[in-house]
Amino acid sequence: GNSRINMVLEEDAVSNTDGSVVAEKREIERRRNLAVISHPDSGKTTFTEKLLLYGGAINQAGAVRARRNSAQKMAVSDWMKMEQERGISITSTVLTFEHNGMCVNILDTPGHNDFSEDTFRTLAAADNVVMLMDAAKGLEPQTRKLFEVARMRQLPLMTFVNKMDRPAMSPYELCDQIELEFGIQTCPMVWPIGDGERFKGVLERDTQLVHLFQRAERTKKATAQAVLHMERDAHALQELLEPDLWEQLQEDHAILSEMAHAWDLDAFLSGDLTPVFFGSAITNFGVELLLKYFLQYGRAPAPRELASGEHIEPNHSEFTGFIFKLQANMDPKHRDRVAYMRIVSGKFSRGMKVSHSRLKAGKQLTLSRPSKLFGSDREIVEIAYPGDVVGLANPGAFAIGDSLYTGSSRIRFPAIPSFSPELFAYVQNPQPGQRKNFLKGLDQLLQEGAVQMLRARSDQGMETPILAAVGQLQYEVVLQRLKDEYGVDARLEPLPYTIARWVAPPAGSSTSAWDALDSCGKLYNVFYAKDAYERPVILLKNEWNLNALVEDHPKLELRSFMYAP
Ligand code: G4P
Repeated sequence: GNSRINMVLEEDAVSNTDGSVVAEKREIERRRNLAVISHPDSGKTTFTEKLLLYGGAINQAGAVRARRNSAQKMAVSDWMKMEQERGISITSTVLTFEHNGMCVNILDTPGHNDFSEDTFRTLAAADNVVMLMDAAKGLEPQTRKLFEVARMRQLPLMTFVNKMDRPAMSPYELCDQIELEFGIQTCPMVWPIGDGERFKGVLERDTQLVHLFQRAERTKKATAQAVLHMERDAHALQELLEPDLWEQLQEDHAILSEMAHAWDLDAFLSGDLTPVFFGSAITNFGVELLLKYFLQYGRAPAPRELASGEHIEPNHSEFTGFIFKLQANMDPKHRDRVAYMRIVSGKFSRGMKVSHSRLKAGKQLTLSRPSKLFGSDREIVEIAYPGDVVGLANPGAFAIGDSLYTGSSRIRFPAIPSFSPELFAYVQNPQPGQRKNFLKGLDQLLQEGAVQMLRARSDQGMETPILAAVGQLQYEVVLQRLKDEYGVDARLEPLPYTIARWVAPPAGSSTSAWDALDSCGKLYNVFYAKDAYERPVILLKNEWNLNALVEDHPKLELRSFMYAP
C-alpha cells in the first residue's frame, strides 16, 4: 500500500500548485499521532515495540529497548547510567512508522512518575491517547493523573488492557472501574475469552470474529492468527474451547449486545467514550486489532487554538508549530541539544526560515538539521506535515512553548501548563570559583524544564535559588547533570514545604498580585517566594495550612499553576 500512495503523492506534488495542495491534504489525512499513558510496569515499552513491528521500518522487536541501549552505549553520561540502573526511561522522543499507507507518530512518554512533567507536555502535542492498563491491577495512580490531563484536553482515548495471559480482573469490573472513576463511557471493541493460563483469545465484536490466542515468539510480528466466526464456525469453536469458556463467551456476547454502550465516533473523538481492547503485548496478541481501529477512527491532526482564541487548521496555508520539549546532551561528546516541535499547519521543509514568537517581528531563524526517529534510527527530515514532530538542533534559541511560523501575522500558541511542584530545596554552589558554570548549568536545566526555579523574596535575606520539583528523582538528575556537564558540585538544602500557590492579580481590578498579597498582612506558616517572572508564589507546609489561609483570606486568588506571561 505504502509505495503506491507515495507514488501518487509524488505525481501530485510535481503536477502543479493545486496538485501540491491536494498532496498536502492527503499527507495530513494519512497522519495519526498518539501518546501512550500508563502506570510504570504495565507494559508500555513492550506495547510500543510491538506497534513498531507493524511498520516496515524495522523487522525485529527490541527496537525500543535497543534505543534505550544505544543511549546507554554512550553511557559516558551518568544521566544515562541512572536511567539504566533504575530501569526507567527518562528521555522521551517520537517514533514514526508507516502502516497500510498511514503514517503513525508515537509520542513516547517517560515511564517514571517523577518525570510526569515531560508527559504533561507530550500530551500537549498529541492528538490521541492510548491508555494501557495491567489486567490484574486495573487503574493505578499514575494512569489516573495522566488521564486528568488527557481529559482536560478532550483527547480521544483508546484503552488497551494488557497482560491477559496472566490472571486478570473480570473484564466487566475493569470497564466499570473506568466508567465510575473517569466518568466516561466504555465500548468494548473486543472481549477476552478466559485469562491467565486459560486465555484463549478475543472476540472482535463488530465482525463477530474470534481471534485465537497463540503464544507468538517475542521478536515476531504476530503470524496470521487463526480466526473463526462466532456463528458460522460455532462447531469448530465449541470443540476448541472448554465448555465453560464457550458458554461464557456466548453469554458475554449476549450481555454486551444488550448492555454495552454502542460505538459512537463523536463521543470517542470528544473523549467521552473509550473503546476497550484486551490482549497481551508481550506475545503480540491484540495489538494489531487496536492498531486497526486506531487507524480507522483515531483523530487526524487537529486544529489548534491560539493564545488569542482563534484556531489554526492543519491545512492553513502558512507553516506553524510549537516547541513542547527540550533535551540536552543526549550525546555528551557533541553536547547537542534538541528542541522537539509539533507541526500544527502547513508544510515543513529542511532549512526553511521561520519567525519566532519571542523574537522581534521580522527576525527569522533557519531550521537546519531537523531530525526524526524512524524505528530506531535518527534521520534527517526533509519534509514534514501537520501531526509530525521534528527534533530541531537547538543552540539556545528555543524554549518550551515557543511558537514558530511563516507568514506575516504573528502566531502564538498558548503556554503549556506544568504540574504544581511538591518538593522545594535551596540550591547552593559551595565552590565560589564555579559560580559561572553553576549559573549557566542551572539556566540550561531550567530552560529544558527539568525543574522549576523560584527565589526567596528579598526581604528575607539573600535571593537564594529554590529548586521546585515534582519528585525526588528530578533533583538527582539535576545534581548529576550539573556535575557531569558543568563540573559543579551543587548542594541541596530541603525546605519543609509541600505546596506552592501562585497569587494571581484580583480579577477586574488594577491591584497587582503583590499588593493583593501584602494587603493580607503578614501571613503565618507561609513562605514568600517569586517565580522567574517576579510573580508571587507562596509555599505552604500542608493542606491544613492552605485551607486555613483560604478561609482567612477568601479574596486572595490562588492558582496551582500559572502560564508564562
Ligand atoms: P513499562 O514500559 O510500562 O514499564 O513496561 P514494560 O514494557 O517494561 O513491561 C514491564 C514488565 O511486564 C516486563 O517484564 C514485561 O516483559 C512484562 N510484560 C509486558 N507485557 C506483558 C504481557 O502482555 N504479559 C506478561 N505476562 N508480561 C508482560 P520484566 O520482567 O520487568 O522485564 P523483561 O525481563 O520481560 O524484560
